[in-house]
Amino acid sequence: MEKKWWHNKVAYQIYPKSFYDTNGDGIGDINGVIEKLDYLQDLGIDIIWLSPIYCSPLADQGYDISDYYDIDPRFGTIADLDRLIEEGKKRGIGIVMDLVVNHCSDEHEWFKKACEDPDGEYGKFFYIEDYKDGDSLPCNWRSYFGGSVWEKLPGHDDKIYLHVFHKKQPDLNWENPKLRKEVYKMINWWLDKGIVGFRIDAIINIKKKLPFSDYPVDGDDGLSSIDNMLKEATGVGEFLNELADETFRKHDAFTVGEVFNEKDDELPLFIGSHGYFSTMFDFSAESTKEDISPENYKKAVFKAHERVDGIGFLSNIIENHDEPRGVSRFIPKEDLDDTSKKMLAGIYFLLPGLPFIYQGQEIGMENLDNVNDINDLDDCANANIYETALHEGKTHAEALAHLINVTRDNARTPFQWDDSKNAGFTDGKPWLMVNPKYKNINLAEQINDSHSVFNFYKELISLRKNPEYESTFVYGKFVPYKPEQKNLLAYSRVGEKSVMVIANYQKDAQTLSLPSKIKKVLLSNTSKTLDNSSFNGTEIVLSPYELLVVEMV
Ligand code: GLC
Ligand code: CA
Repeated sequence: MEKKWWHNKVAYQIYPKSFYDTNGDGIGDINGVIEKLDYLQDLGIDIIWLSPIYCSPLADQGYDISDYYDIDPRFGTIADLDRLIEEGKKRGIGIVMDLVVNHCSDEHEWFKKACEDPDGEYGKFFYIEDYKDGDSLPCNWRSYFGGSVWEKLPGHDDKIYLHVFHKKQPDLNWENPKLRKEVYKMINWWLDKGIVGFRIDAIINIKKKLPFSDYPVDGDDGLSSIDNMLKEATGVGEFLNELADETFRKHDAFTVGEVFNEKDDELPLFIGSHGYFSTMFDFSAESTKEDISPENYKKAVFKAHERVDGIGFLSNIIENHDEPRGVSRFIPKEDLDDTSKKMLAGIYFLLPGLPFIYQGQEIGMENLDNVNDINDLDDCANANIYETALHEGKTHAEALAHLINVTRDNARTPFQWDDSKNAGFTDGKPWLMVNPKYKNINLAEQINDSHSVFNFYKELISLRKNPEYESTFVYGKFVPYKPEQKNLLAYSRVGEKSVMVIANYQKDAQTLSLPSKIKKVLLSNTSKTLDNSSFNGTEIVLSPYELLVVEMV
């Protein structure tokens, strides 16, 4: 495999609005990120991905951009961002921005001009169709946040526009070369500024199956999931290749795609050595619909890595700003403690690919437990989740409980820095409730405790970066071990060294026969060391949720 500068990096996602507030307005800001750079450097982070901080009405928390060339005043200024890039560089940390170009905001000047003159140049930047009351819509697609993808064009009773997300996120028309050129210009402007790359939002959606047509209805709303259309849309690769040629490849940028629905034979095109992107996220466990048992988790993750074996790198996560907290999702509530959290950390962190940590994950932040009022939450996707649950026959209390379990707000509550008011996130009133668990789960309590979840993450990062093992963790072959043994999740990384990651993913002890003797214990979430008598032979007894990283003879 051709070596790339970013192969051995560890990345950290910041959701700026909830990271750290420096001016008391209750909203995290760029200066807050700058203040915490030393913290991130000490943790061992090389790349920071910032969720969007561009000018935005924040209808979908910045994923609705009204000016691609400026920073929203709530987050700071361009000068602040320049300082963040500089200060990051001094610490060996590169900044990755979020690239949201499937859609912009309805408050972007392109859309405003399109509303003024739908038949003019900017009308062609969007998907605008004629429509009179009583007509049937051009297609029956359901937007990701619920309801039809079509909305009346402001100021025009006889026109509608397409939005696959929120109605304040009109889709950009990638079929139009002028639009594409504008997008490339903007991307290069940012890369010239000194950011190291982009996380690429919702990118599969840029290719629509045209002309618009209906797909099989799959809900009581009479609409059809966008997925049905995306399965039939071909040709996104031509857009992506042009995009990469015109921008990323010229700068040797690091890019990570939010890609769903890609087909097997497209993988080398997406993340091969000369792919459209450097890497893409592995969402296989997150998007598992069934209850995610240890066995399901293992199957999903192993399959994902076997699928890209020899092709390219995945980016590994247990959560992000769109998902509930990983520890709450992947570990049964009654078993959730520091030991099981560390086990989950070790499992995903040492897989092939790039580990991403989402802010707060490193201190084991959990989902909200209860919320009295739906109005204490914020996300624009909530109303649809709640109403769909009611529609399916749930009571109000049940619908709220379901929402609390799945809402994206679980990941978006402020970072828990300490046990002071508002978890030390702000002196003002936080824009979103602080998770009441901050009294027990916060950084200040963990930073000097060598047994904390935080220090376990630190050890994981330094193990990955240990010069003796780095090439094995970065380039070593991934070999599942005894995948049929229930609630055991074990794999080898075989390169210069042979290392095994072994997890007992259950609350009971279990016995495991190893292929050879252990040479060295590299990391453990219990107090096991090699002197421990349990390592004499090739049979070991694993305690509940035990994780072991060992070098083999
Ligand atoms: C991506 C983002 C999500 C956003 C959506 C629309 O999935 O991660 O937060 O709502 O795209 O931009
Ligand atoms: Ca602020």
